[in-house]
Amino acid sequence: SDNKAWSGRFAEPVAELVKTYTASVGFDKRMAEFDIQGSLAHATMLARAGVLSDADLAAIRDGMEAILADIRAGRFDWSVDLEDVHMNVEKRLTDRIGDAGKRLHTGRSRNDQVATDIRLYMRDAIDRIVTHIRELQTSLLDLAEPNAATVMPGFTHLQVAQPVTFGHHLLAYVEMLGRDAERMIDARRRVNRLPLGAAALAGTTYPIDRHYTAELLGFDDVCQNSLDAVSDRDFAIEVTAAGSLVMLHLSRLSEELILWMSPRVGFIDIADRFCTGSSIMPQKKNPDVPELVRGKTGRVTGHLMGLLMLMKAQPLAYNKDNQEDKEPLFDTVDTLVDTLRIYADMMRGITVKPEAMRAAVLQGFATATDLADYLVKKGVPFRDSHEVVARAVKLADTRGCDLADLSLDVLKEFSPLIEQDVYAVLTPEGSLAQRDHVGGTAPAQVRAQIARWRGLLA
Ligand code: ARG
Repeated sequence: SDNKAWSGRFAEPVAELVKTYTASVGFDKRMAEFDIQGSLAHATMLARAGVLSDADLAAIRDGMEAILADIRAGRFDWSVDLEDVHMNVEKRLTDRIGDAGKRLHTGRSRNDQVATDIRLYMRDAIDRIVTHIRELQTSLLDLAEPNAATVMPGFTHLQVAQPVTFGHHLLAYVEMLGRDAERMIDARRRVNRLPLGAAALAGTTYPIDRHYTAELLGFDDVCQNSLDAVSDRDFAIEVTAAGSLVMLHLSRLSEELILWMSPRVGFIDIADRFCTGSSIMPQKKNPDVPELVRGKTGRVTGHLMGLLMLMKAQPLAYNKDNQEDKEPLFDTVDTLVDTLRIYADMMRGITVKPEAMRAAVLQGFATATDLADYLVKKGVPFRDSHEVVARAVKLADTRGCDLADLSLDVLKEFSPLIEQDVYAVLTPEGSLAQRDHVGGTAPAQVRAQIARWRGLLA
């Protein structure tokens, strides 16, 4: 059974291995609904332009409706002989309605057809991804809210740096995800343009109305150059790049969750339903989900590299290389959607251990900068106060205590300007409260940011 759509000029059937090697139906059948949507819009436009009769259009609509029902019900028999989703659907349509089905492809090529299908698929995928990003942000806010004043060590170089609140730390990820959503929404503007009408590469001889087709499909505009319309996949690369950043941000959070759940740190616990055990070590409870997210980040950034390499060195216009865009694209979208969904759920399954976080702050001289700032406010130049405090830290370190455990007499030996009120800045709470400006970690600021984000997400 040869592919009758194009085998007319061939002297022998295509080799079996070549048939499976070149077929894409195994993976592009998932675009079927968008393919039919595009075909219906194209046929409607052709009928309005007088290229198709109203009777043909009616037959095409009925036929497509039945085909769509078959596909949704899992009754559609996909054939590798028919190569891809486009020819499978078209052949079935012709089997059902005869000549009207054969007229559907007038003024169209699979080249502009597939470019349209991918854009419809991507548009839908972007909308789903943005929704799931918003849900994860909400879930992070729900965890941040009761922890707006929960003291934890802020780290640089993984060394204790200064006290922050756990809520503030989580809000950093809310910001990252906010930019991720912005990037997706921005890329959507470039995705949402119509390639149909470009036909194979040069346009078509029929009196088509591309703006009408665009309107029917909800595209904002038409692609303005036929060669560009069928050949570039930069929009897909952009979305995969934006998706790689989503994964990269979640990979960083995953790394932290894993670290925080380690018994050596013990800042949080992750609900059992997101963890797995060991088949040999009975005591184990492993943070598999964050580990897999970290691992799948490599997979998605790998797809980005694959798509970049796919485009490079392709001469204009369409080349079959482009068929290779779909699997990485679909897998990127699937991975993102699943990851975002599981993450939103997992954040609701986190138990915070405030005592462990606070104990860690008290071990790392986290308020040393506060003591330096205290002296600056009493007139000591910052470089000098830095030096003074460094010596105080050295003494506390040899005594195995925190700065706040040094008596006033001892502290006064480092600087006579130090008074009883110093202890207000040496506590983690005192340190937090003083960082009371936009973007700072003071609990009041954290609460204000949570309220701001709630408003933005409402
Ligand atoms: N399956 C093809 C793809 O995914 C459809 C376009 C094929 N066009 C062609 N002239 N071979 O790109």
